[in-house]
Amino acid sequence: MPPEKIEIFKSMESWATKNILTHLKPVEKSWQPQDFLPQADSEGFYEQVKELRERSKELPDDYFVVLVGDMITEEALPTYQTALNTLDGVRDETGASLSPWAVWNRGWTAEENRHGDLLNKYLYLSGRVDMRQIEKTIQYLIGCGMDPKTENNPYLGFIYTSFQERATFISHGNTARLAKEHGNMKLAQICGIIAADEKRHETAYTKIVEKLFEIDPDATILALADMMRKKISMPAHLMFDGQDDNLFENYSAVAQRIGVYTAKDYADILEFLVGRWKVEKLTGLSGEGHKAQDFVCGLPPRIRRLEERAQGRVKQASTAPFSWVFGRELKL
Ligand SMILES: [Fe+2]
Ligand SMILES: [Fe+2]
Repeated sequence: MPPEKIEIFKSMESWATKNILTHLKPVEKSWQPQDFLPQADSEGFYEQVKELRERSKELPDDYFVVLVGDMITEEALPTYQTALNTLDGVRDETGASLSPWAVWNRGWTAEENRHGDLLNKYLYLSGRVDMRQIEKTIQYLIGCGMDPKTENNPYLGFIYTSFQERATFISHGNTARLAKEHGNMKLAQICGIIAADEKRHETAYTKIVEKLFEIDPDATILALADMMRKKISMPAHLMFDGQDDNLFENYSAVAQRIGVYTAKDYADILEFLVGRWKVEKLTGLSGEGHKAQDFVCGLPPRIRRLEERAQGRVKQASTAPFSWVFGRELKL
């Protein structure tokens, strides 16, 4: 990124301290995985585990496959911290830098780290899933990394994270809702508390982009159009379990079928962000900026139309085995 653009992020530092760091929760006020799990040092541990396992029997395999995929996505956190630290002007230069951008990167990572921990322990105790296969998938995924196509550019980077935090807010919110519908209030609470974190993170990232729209509308709208042309790739798109070459597609298909994360959600997120950033009302743009604005504003209905057509075309009932649930075949 050119030096004058890096300067923009430097000049935003005191703003970021006041407006972004406030969206991190102090550790002393944060929930911890242990708050939602059987307590191993207590008398009632075995009883609590038994209850957890009884309750989890009421949930179908397809629910577990989606929850496992969500957990694996959370567990690849080293990849996401690395991705944040590729961004010019906001990366953590030393590993313990006191710039507000670096403090945010680490604080965000530390908060997110609880998500994978909590889901991983819950899934382990449930006895419903093949932990070894899941652990292999996590190791493969961290080894593969990801390419969010943000090109070291924080405009692209913060648009990507805004989108992703909202996507995870929606999907954890839906796994919470489904757990509740199956009478598993404990798991509903677990997914719900994670969704609440994602929402808070979404608020912070969308605020950064809102500020960029204010300071540098042209570059920001061009970045948004660029990101949407490339399509937001999901963070775990390179997942592999050593067996299924279409694992991510198959997991996504089940998530779509049970309504945890769908193509409609993708269009809805974009529409939400366009509204949140008042993209339609941007003024004073260059010719290129105007074109990008038109493209982005027209995109949600276009994505929906394409999606409807695609849905009408395919729709053959296929199945796939998932190693995460001991190779059982699930409908896609
Ligand atoms: Fe998360
Ligand atoms: Fe997140």
